Amino acid sequence: MNVVTSSSQPNPGVAKAVKAADELVVNVQGLNHYFGEGENRKQVLFNNTLQVGPGELVIMTGPSGSGKTTLLTLVGALRSSQEGSNCVLGKELKGLGAKQLNEVRRQIGFIFQMHNLFDSLTAFENVKMSMELHGHKSRDMRREIIKILSRLGLGERIYYKPRQLSGGQRQRVAFTTSLGSFPAVSDSV
Ligand SMILES: Nc1ncnc2c1ncn2[C@@H]1O[C@H](COP(=O)(O)OP(=O)(O)OP(=O)(O)O)[C@@H](O)[C@H]1O
Ligand SMILES: [Mg+2]
Repeated sequence: MNVVTSSSQPNPGVAKAVKAADELVVNVQGLNHYFGEGENRKQVLFNNTLQVGPGELVIMTGPSGSGKTTLLTLVGALRSSQEGSNCVLGKELKGLGAKQLNEVRRQIGFIFQMHNLFDSLTAFENVKMSMELHGHKSRDMRREIIKILSRLGLGERIYYKPRQLSGGQRQRVAFTTSLGSFPAVSDSV
């Protein structure tokens, strides 16, 4: 698995730390992860290291099955860390319980590989529900959602359900739901 960041650190897995630990948004050190039990136990992450600073764009590439999603779900507080240090937004995630992981997760925006939209809700309703779940409050949420979806070229599809949208259109709705965790949503697109 390779990781490239916008700060031209070709592989933080082997590069020296360039930032103090408290400046990092993500600071993964020596992370191992295993799936399965007993004889079926299989290691999928091997001593992974990843450091991401504020505002850095990171691209992770690697063969199918090499552990990209596993690493991202650990960093995203979507599963419990087993071995090594997984420090995100200044908090060590290893050892946290489900409730504490949930609190960290609420500060992170996700776009899943599988779009995870609700089939029975329209694009507008999917985005609205995500914003409400993230505690986003606005007197004019309806206008904000329509503005974001229109900017992403979905102006004609706001009240369509996922199955009536193309793969790319669904991904853009999913992207918009991931913004639900940010304040000032309409300014961040
Ligand atoms: N819940 C699970 N239980 C058991 N094994 C799993 C589980 N999730 C993933 N794996 C295995 O862990 C390995 C890494 O999977 P992962 O989904 O992280 O790969 P990936 O790099 O994201 O692949 P892709 O490019 O296909 O999305 C694979 O061999 C996969 O079969
Ligand atoms: Mg994957």
